[in-house]
Amino acid sequence: MKIILKTKRLYLREFISSDGFHFYHLNKDEKVLKFTGDIPFKTEKEAYVFIKNYTEYKRHGFGRWAVCLNETDEFIGWCGLKNSNNEIDLGFRFYQKYWNKGYAAEAANACINYGFNSLKMHKIIARAYKENKASIRVLQKCYMVFQKNISYDGVPAVLLSKSNSN
Ligand SMILES: CC(C)(COP(=O)(O)OP(=O)(O)OC[C@H]1O[C@@H](n2cnc3c(N)ncnc32)[C@H](O)[C@@H]1OP(=O)(O)O)[C@@H](O)C(=O)NCCC(=O)NCCS
Repeated sequence: MKIILKTKRLYLREFISSDGFHFYHLNKDEKVLKFTGDIPFKTEKEAYVFIKNYTEYKRHGFGRWAVCLNETDEFIGWCGLKNSNNEIDLGFRFYQKYWNKGYAAEAANACINYGFNSLKMHKIIARAYKENKASIRVLQKCYMVFQKNISYDGVPAVLLSKSNSN
Protein backbone atom coordinates (compact mmCIF):
# COMPACT_ATOMS: atom_id res chain seq x y z
CA MET A 1 0.00 0.00 0.00
CA LYS A 2 1.53 3.28 -1.09
CA ILE A 3 0.56 6.31 1.01
CA ILE A 4 0.95 9.57 -0.89
CA LEU A 5 -0.30 12.20 1.51
CA LYS A 6 -1.30 12.69 5.11
CA THR A 7 -3.47 15.39 6.63
CA LYS A 8 -4.79 15.92 10.13
CA ARG A 9 -7.68 13.48 9.74
CA LEU A 10 -6.95 11.68 6.48
CA TYR A 11 -4.43 9.82 4.43
CA LEU A 12 -4.48 9.41 0.67
CA ARG A 13 -3.11 6.23 -0.82
CA GLU A 14 -2.92 4.60 -4.22
CA PHE A 15 -5.86 2.37 -5.10
CA ILE A 16 -5.63 -1.29 -4.18
CA SER A 17 -7.64 -4.12 -5.73
CA SER A 18 -10.14 -4.35 -2.85
CA ASP A 19 -11.20 -0.73 -3.59
CA GLY A 20 -13.31 -2.28 -6.37
CA PHE A 21 -15.91 -2.93 -3.66
CA HIS A 22 -16.00 0.77 -2.76
CA PHE A 23 -16.06 2.01 -6.34
CA TYR A 24 -19.05 -0.19 -6.99
CA HIS A 25 -20.95 0.98 -3.91
CA LEU A 26 -19.96 4.64 -4.23
CA ASN A 27 -21.20 4.77 -7.80
CA LYS A 28 -24.36 2.84 -6.95
CA ASP A 29 -25.62 5.88 -5.05
CA GLU A 30 -27.47 8.10 -7.52
CA LYS A 31 -26.99 11.15 -5.29
CA VAL A 32 -23.23 10.66 -5.52
CA LEU A 33 -23.33 10.43 -9.32
CA LYS A 34 -25.97 13.14 -9.82
CA PHE A 35 -23.59 15.88 -10.96
CA THR A 36 -20.77 13.78 -12.37
CA GLY A 37 -21.97 12.50 -15.75
CA ASP A 38 -20.83 9.01 -14.73
CA ILE A 39 -22.94 5.89 -14.84
CA PRO A 40 -22.94 3.15 -12.18
CA PHE A 41 -20.89 0.00 -12.69
CA LYS A 42 -23.14 -2.81 -13.89
CA THR A 43 -21.55 -5.33 -11.56
CA GLU A 44 -19.10 -5.34 -8.69
CA LYS A 45 -16.70 -7.25 -10.94
CA GLU A 46 -16.70 -4.36 -13.43
CA ALA A 47 -15.50 -2.04 -10.66
CA TYR A 48 -12.71 -4.46 -9.73
CA VAL A 49 -11.64 -4.56 -13.40
CA PHE A 50 -11.63 -0.75 -13.47
CA ILE A 51 -9.19 -0.68 -10.54
CA LYS A 52 -7.05 -3.42 -12.08
CA ASN A 53 -6.75 -1.39 -15.29
CA TYR A 54 -6.07 1.92 -13.55
CA THR A 55 -2.69 2.87 -15.03
CA GLU A 56 -2.51 6.58 -14.18
CA TYR A 57 0.19 6.20 -11.49
CA LYS A 58 2.48 4.37 -13.90
CA ARG A 59 1.73 6.64 -16.85
CA HIS A 60 1.86 10.02 -15.11
CA GLY A 61 3.25 9.50 -11.61
CA PHE A 62 -0.03 10.65 -10.05
CA GLY A 63 -3.76 10.09 -10.26
CA ARG A 64 -6.87 9.87 -8.16
CA TRP A 65 -6.18 8.41 -4.71
CA ALA A 66 -8.23 6.61 -2.07
CA VAL A 67 -9.06 8.83 0.90
CA CYS A 68 -9.04 7.02 4.26
CA LEU A 69 -9.58 8.08 7.85
CA ASN A 70 -6.43 8.12 9.97
CA GLU A 71 -8.36 6.89 13.00
CA THR A 72 -10.08 3.85 11.52
CA ASP A 73 -8.50 3.25 8.09
CA GLU A 74 -11.99 3.42 6.58
CA PHE A 75 -12.19 4.22 2.86
CA ILE A 76 -14.43 7.30 2.64
CA GLY A 77 -14.00 8.25 -1.01
CA TRP A 78 -11.41 9.35 -3.52
CA CYS A 79 -9.69 12.59 -4.42
CA GLY A 80 -6.81 13.48 -6.66
CA LEU A 81 -5.27 14.75 -9.83
CA LYS A 82 -5.83 13.57 -13.37
CA ASN A 83 -3.91 14.30 -16.52
CA SER A 84 -6.70 15.41 -18.83
CA ASN A 85 -5.40 16.44 -22.28
CA ASN A 86 -2.25 17.87 -20.68
CA GLU A 87 -4.24 19.80 -18.12
CA ILE A 88 -4.21 18.73 -14.48
CA ASP A 89 -7.72 18.22 -13.23
CA LEU A 90 -8.69 18.03 -9.56
CA GLY A 91 -11.58 15.70 -8.71
CA PHE A 92 -13.25 14.09 -5.70
CA ARG A 93 -16.08 11.82 -4.68
CA PHE A 94 -17.14 10.66 -1.23
CA TYR A 95 -19.70 8.34 0.35
CA GLN A 96 -22.73 10.38 1.34
CA LYS A 97 -22.39 9.55 5.04
CA TYR A 98 -19.13 11.53 5.08
CA TRP A 99 -20.41 14.68 3.38
CA ASN A 100 -20.26 18.11 5.03
CA LYS A 101 -17.52 17.27 7.48
CA GLY A 102 -14.82 19.15 5.58
CA TYR A 103 -13.16 15.99 4.28
CA ALA A 104 -13.29 16.96 0.58
CA ALA A 105 -11.70 20.36 1.21
CA GLU A 106 -9.05 18.80 3.46
CA ALA A 107 -8.14 16.17 0.87
CA ALA A 108 -8.36 18.52 -2.13
CA ASN A 109 -6.17 21.18 -0.52
CA ALA A 110 -3.56 18.53 0.24
CA CYS A 111 -3.66 17.31 -3.38
CA ILE A 112 -3.18 20.84 -4.70
CA ASN A 113 -0.22 21.47 -2.38
CA TYR A 114 1.29 18.13 -3.36
CA GLY A 115 0.80 18.94 -7.06
CA PHE A 116 2.50 22.31 -6.70
CA ASN A 117 5.25 21.50 -4.19
CA SER A 118 6.21 17.90 -4.95
CA LEU A 119 5.12 17.40 -8.55
CA LYS A 120 6.01 20.96 -9.58
CA MET A 121 2.78 21.48 -11.47
CA HIS A 122 2.12 24.99 -12.77
CA LYS A 123 -1.65 25.04 -12.79
CA ILE A 124 -4.52 22.86 -11.57
CA ILE A 125 -8.03 23.14 -12.94
CA ALA A 126 -11.42 21.79 -11.89
CA ARG A 127 -14.77 21.56 -13.56
CA ALA A 128 -18.13 21.34 -11.81
CA TYR A 129 -21.73 21.42 -12.92
CA LYS A 130 -23.26 24.78 -11.99
CA GLU A 131 -25.87 22.97 -9.90
CA ASN A 132 -23.20 21.20 -7.88
CA LYS A 133 -23.00 23.84 -5.17
CA ALA A 134 -21.14 21.60 -2.70
CA SER A 135 -18.40 20.86 -5.22
CA ILE A 136 -18.01 24.53 -6.17
CA ARG A 137 -17.84 25.42 -2.49
CA VAL A 138 -15.06 22.87 -1.95
CA LEU A 139 -13.11 24.37 -4.86
CA GLN A 140 -13.55 27.83 -3.38
CA LYS A 141 -12.29 26.51 -0.05
CA CYS A 142 -9.18 25.46 -2.00
CA TYR A 143 -8.80 29.04 -3.25
CA MET A 144 -9.51 28.01 -6.81
CA VAL A 145 -10.70 30.92 -8.92
CA PHE A 146 -13.59 31.03 -11.38
CA GLN A 147 -12.31 31.20 -14.98
CA LYS A 148 -15.33 30.78 -17.20
CA ASN A 149 -18.67 29.14 -17.82
CA ILE A 150 -18.40 25.95 -19.85
CA SER A 151 -20.53 23.12 -21.10
CA TYR A 152 -19.45 19.85 -19.49
CA ASP A 153 -21.06 16.69 -20.90
CA GLY A 154 -23.57 19.11 -22.41
CA VAL A 155 -24.46 20.47 -18.97
CA PRO A 156 -23.89 24.10 -17.83
CA ALA A 157 -20.74 24.06 -15.74
CA VAL A 158 -17.90 26.21 -14.45
CA LEU A 159 -14.16 25.99 -14.86
CA LEU A 160 -11.98 27.04 -11.94
CA SER A 161 -8.23 27.05 -11.63
CA LYS A 162 -5.34 27.79 -9.32
CA SER A 163 -1.80 28.63 -10.39
CA ASN A 164 1.40 27.72 -8.60
CA SER A 165 2.75 30.91 -7.08
CA ASN A 166 6.20 29.47 -6.22
C1 LIG B 1 -18.87 17.42 -3.59
C2 LIG B 1 -18.39 16.58 -2.45
C3 LIG B 1 -17.09 15.89 -2.78
C4 LIG B 1 -18.17 17.48 -1.22
O1 LIG B 1 -17.61 16.71 -0.17
P1 LIG B 1 -17.67 17.18 1.35
O2 LIG B 1 -16.68 16.34 2.11
O3 LIG B 1 -19.06 17.22 1.80
O4 LIG B 1 -17.11 18.67 1.23
P2 LIG B 1 -16.74 19.65 2.43
O5 LIG B 1 -17.39 19.20 3.69
O6 LIG B 1 -15.25 19.85 2.45
O7 LIG B 1 -17.37 21.03 1.93
C5 LIG B 1 -18.70 21.10 1.47
C6 LIG B 1 -19.14 22.56 1.46
O8 LIG B 1 -20.26 22.68 0.60
C7 LIG B 1 -21.33 23.26 1.32
N1 LIG B 1 -22.55 22.69 0.75
C8 LIG B 1 -22.99 21.42 0.80
N2 LIG B 1 -24.14 21.31 0.14
C9 LIG B 1 -24.43 22.53 -0.36
C10 LIG B 1 -25.50 23.07 -1.14
N3 LIG B 1 -26.50 22.28 -1.57
N4 LIG B 1 -25.48 24.38 -1.47
C11 LIG B 1 -24.47 25.18 -1.04
N5 LIG B 1 -23.42 24.73 -0.30
C12 LIG B 1 -23.42 23.42 0.03
C13 LIG B 1 -21.08 22.87 2.76
O9 LIG B 1 -21.78 23.71 3.66
C14 LIG B 1 -19.57 23.05 2.82
O10 LIG B 1 -19.20 24.41 2.86
P3 LIG B 1 -18.76 25.12 4.26
O11 LIG B 1 -17.60 24.34 4.79
O12 LIG B 1 -18.41 26.52 3.87
O13 LIG B 1 -19.94 25.04 5.18
C15 LIG B 1 -19.44 15.50 -2.04
O14 LIG B 1 -20.67 16.14 -1.88
C16 LIG B 1 -19.57 14.41 -3.07
O15 LIG B 1 -18.89 13.39 -3.03
N6 LIG B 1 -20.50 14.62 -4.04
C17 LIG B 1 -20.72 13.63 -5.09
C18 LIG B 1 -19.61 13.58 -6.12
C19 LIG B 1 -19.36 14.91 -6.77
O16 LIG B 1 -20.28 15.65 -7.09
N7 LIG B 1 -18.08 15.20 -7.01
C20 LIG B 1 -17.66 16.43 -7.64
C21 LIG B 1 -17.85 16.38 -9.11
S1 LIG B 1 -17.31 17.91 -9.85
